Amino acid sequence: MSRGALLLAVLAALTACDRSKINESEYEEAGAAAVLPLKKSLKAALVAGLEEGPVNAISVCRVEAPQLAEKASTATTRVGRTSRKLRNPANAPKPWMEPLLDLYERDPESREPAVVIIDDRTVGYVEPIFVQPLCVTCHGATLEPDLASKIAELYPNDQATGYAAGDLRGVFWAELTRD
Ligand code: HEC
Repeated sequence: MSRGALLLAVLAALTACDRSKINESEYEEAGAAAVLPLKKSLKAALVAGLEEGPVNAISVCRVEAPQLAEKASTATTRVGRTSRKLRNPANAPKPWMEPLLDLYERDPESREPAVVIIDDRTVGYVEPIFVQPLCVTCHGATLEPDLASKIAELYPNDQATGYAAGDLRGVFWAELTRD
């Protein structure tokens, strides 16, 4: 190999191996686009379910929320929701989400989405979810008795109550395949 060719080979290898940096705004955009269908379909399901009353909406949420997350995921992108105070333990945070959840919990002013490198092939995206007045029906400090008992029946370890409008509820997340 000539010196020139060797130099080129080394440079190519170095560029290929520098996986420690990402273009954050590119992944923030991709992450926001990835979670959007889940946000929209969850909201639509919730509103439709609530028309039949909150107890019915609980059943809708329980059946549909995981299916909607599955439907909004693709071969290269997975999406979902997580929280520090879980209703469904299946929504538990993965290790890469923990520091970001802590960040939002510690600093209520930080409302911006964030991206993080998970590994060579994956970038994580999160965006905080805040409690709206509508959410308090099922996540507030006091729940209607029939609603409370339905939740207790379906989610015996429910921690996701006691919220007020404006509180941080958790995050939407996406796992994006890297370029
Ligand atoms: C009709 C009752 C109801 C309402 C209203 C409601 N939720 Fe939920 N929420 C649930 C149920 C039931 C689950 C568990 C779904 C599952 O099994 O995946 C849940 C789960 C979640 C989760 C996933 C983390 C976890 O604890 O499992 C988030 C985040 C969440 N809700 C946020 C919200 C927000 C934000 C609103 C308002 C826009 C809202 N919810 C309104 C019933 C409700």
